[in-house]
Amino acid sequence: MGEFVVHRSGPLQGTVHLGGAKNSALKLMAACLLAEGGHVLSGVPRIIDVEIMADVLRAMGVTVRRAPDGPDGEPGDLLLDTPAVLVPEAPYELVERMRASIVVLGPLLARCGEARVSMPGGDDFGERPIDMHLTWLTAMGASFETAHGYVQGRVPVGGLVGSRVVLEYPSHTVTDNLLMAAVLARGVTVIENAAREPEVRDLADLLVAMGARIEGAGTSHIEIEGVAALTPAVHRVVPDRVVAATYLAAVGIAGGEIIVTGARAEHMDMLLAKLGQMGVEITPVEGGLQATAKGRLHSVDIATLPYPGVATDYKPLLVAMLTVADGVGIVSENLFSGRFRYVDELRRLGADIRTEGHHAVVRGVPGLFGATVRATDLRAGAALVLAGMAAEGETIVTDAGHVDRGYDDLAGALAGLGADVVRR
Ligand code: EPU
Repeated sequence: MGEFVVHRSGPLQGTVHLGGAKNSALKLMAACLLAEGGHVLSGVPRIIDVEIMADVLRAMGVTVRRAPDGPDGEPGDLLLDTPAVLVPEAPYELVERMRASIVVLGPLLARCGEARVSMPGGDDFGERPIDMHLTWLTAMGASFETAHGYVQGRVPVGGLVGSRVVLEYPSHTVTDNLLMAAVLARGVTVIENAAREPEVRDLADLLVAMGARIEGAGTSHIEIEGVAALTPAVHRVVPDRVVAATYLAAVGIAGGEIIVTGARAEHMDMLLAKLGQMGVEITPVEGGLQATAKGRLHSVDIATLPYPGVATDYKPLLVAMLTVADGVGIVSENLFSGRFRYVDELRRLGADIRTEGHHAVVRGVPGLFGATVRATDLRAGAALVLAGMAAEGETIVTDAGHVDRGYDDLAGALAGLGADVVRR
């Protein structure tokens, strides 16, 4: 899986460019199942999860390839060619590597009238069920059987039917799946308490460009009027706000002044407010954000919430910042029960953190010291790299492959800002 070798770094300086969002790109790729023909997605990051999703789609008969990279290093467009007839199955070997594969369920049912998708297993965040996906696709007329580790879904002749959906929790991927199911359903689907993430809006923008009728994406009330068929489109992926947060947290930890081009302040309001309270000064500049940090950070309390709250994906980065901030911060995780596993690794670097259920109390220390630690998941891995930048001596972050799932060369990007981070 490789490892990161990190030494104390900073002050950082320079400009880093942001690629497209993983959690949008994966869904946009799945949306290409909905229409026969050639689709073009720009700004799709070169990350492992995109490769896994490409393999999921290939298993269904879609041709997926990359155009050559642009002269500025911009990843080449992703070109997807969807056949008239699909193999509506997502096999165990691929779903097991990436839970987000479940997002093919809605488009397959809508386009093929059937789907066979391996049930995602547990992961490092603890329990992550798919009950809401099944409940609401059932409300739209699908029926499901589970056997031999697979969910088998069928739609009666005539297709899915529009329905009123009231989500008990504004799940991101459930909203995506229902959107993709509803665009080809008969009649109107209304999703109440829908997820409001910018990536949901991005998916809806692609679907509209393909001919779908959708109102309200990006708000908690979405209305979709089904159409008979969609056609392929050309679309650019929204910038990755979690990767942006990673660079902003890096400058918080190491100090300095950087510009993140492509970063959109309106997608990160709460995060920017928190970073501001911690002492990272962030100002919009032409095409991005400038972030400046001098001196020691201040502690704040943080509670993760569905968008537009502070995203659970930002939390490990913020906890890494709190480990060296002045004061005590209380961090509450409200989304994923197991998402404190990396805390033990931060403690190995000298962090003073106590966890109790969904809460962590982080007492800032003046500095960390290097050690070998393990990336327990994607965001945790990035957070450990950042923590290593505040540590005396050498920090080795093993299981670096987790980080490759969502970052296109994190070490290279941080090194470009002057950080002493190497991937090997
Ligand atoms: N949930 C259910 N039943 C379901 C679906 C979800 O109970 O059928 C629960 C989950 O167990 C969890 C909560 O709902 O407690 C939130 O889950 P949600 O469905 O919103 O999360 P997700 O769609 O599975 C996406 C991102 C995650 C990100 C979360 C929260 C993708 C591919 N993943 O997951 O990103 O943490 O939203 O914003 O979009 C990451 O990028 O590393 C990552 C994990």
